[in-house]
Amino acid sequence: MIRAADAAGLAEAVRLLKAGSVVGMPTETVYGLAADAFNPKACARVFEVKARPSFDPLIVHLASAEWLPRVAAEIPAAALDLAAAFWPGPLTLVLPRRPEVPGIVTAGLDTVAVRVPAHPVALTLLALADTPLAAPSANRFGALSPTRAQHVVLGLGALLPLVLDGGPCRVGVESTIVDLSGPSPTLLRPGGLPREDIEKVLGLALIRGPGALERPNAPGQLASHYAPSTPLRLLQRPPAADTGDPNRGLLAFQGAPERHHYGHVEILSVRGDLREAAARLFECLHRLDGLRLETIDAESVPSTGLGVAINDRLSRAAGGHATMA
Ligand code: TXA
Ligand code: MG
Repeated sequence: MIRAADAAGLAEAVRLLKAGSVVGMPTETVYGLAADAFNPKACARVFEVKARPSFDPLIVHLASAEWLPRVAAEIPAAALDLAAAFWPGPLTLVLPRRPEVPGIVTAGLDTVAVRVPAHPVALTLLALADTPLAAPSANRFGALSPTRAQHVVLGLGALLPLVLDGGPCRVGVESTIVDLSGPSPTLLRPGGLPREDIEKVLGLALIRGPGALERPNAPGQLASHYAPSTPLRLLQRPPAADTGDPNRGLLAFQGAPERHHYGHVEILSVRGDLREAAARLFECLHRLDGLRLETIDAESVPSTGLGVAINDRLSRAAGGHATMA
């Protein structure tokens, strides 16, 4: 059930978290399915609700970088630099974990993924609960990520006692994940913070993480993920005006809808702004997916800044198979 994030809604969410339940929580990236990170049973419920394979670790949300010592055993200088530059914000850091962090949160790894979300409701909830919250995106495993409270209820409905309504997510794609637990900072998942911004602060280039098939330690790395139920094809270039079909939907990057003969067209950003496109990505996919079309064609976007994360999500929504059309 959707609750306004007023004092009463927040108090109810805290009560549920303390009782070992899971709640839907808005963040600036996507909605999360939150549980007390130090309560292994509550975290197990997260896997159950998401129907998520248990090899897959959860991101732990903190109220501020001052909470890092609660979960991280070592805090390298690079982590402090990145935290100072980008938290609260769409950046997740993988650090050596403290032994107190339950194994179910880290899937038995000796590292923990942490971030401070830039959403007032999430930050208030964290402060009131006074415990780190483990929260993956609030969708069934492999399905589209939710960027509105209504998406969470559509996907998980009765399995969830409460979703706090924080409005539409401002960033709209998941956080960028950087692993700082090894010898060189490694990009595990492109996301809401462009790689270039991180490299500028670190003063070095990030190593690209291992590919999906070699070592899927971030499921965002699986080839098929973030998928709508309607089959999706990724187009390498905008379709010619007459290639449309009424049973097809089009996810266009920019421009006016009239130029296409599709059953339905969603435009990520009329003026071609990648930030706006990222914020609307899952929203537009949810809308297209609700129309019972035969297929969805999606245009890829310029591969710079947030465009890298958008193309990554689109190619995974297409099952890893970009179709030239
Ligand atoms: O923006 C976000 O990151 C959203 C919001 C809710 O914060 N959360 C999110 O969580 O996208 P999730 O569970 O859908 O993706 C978390 C990713 C997974 O791919 C997981 O494998 C990876 O983080 N991860 C978590 N702990 C890790 C670790 N110790 N080492 C490597 N990857 C880790
Ligand atoms: Mg997810």
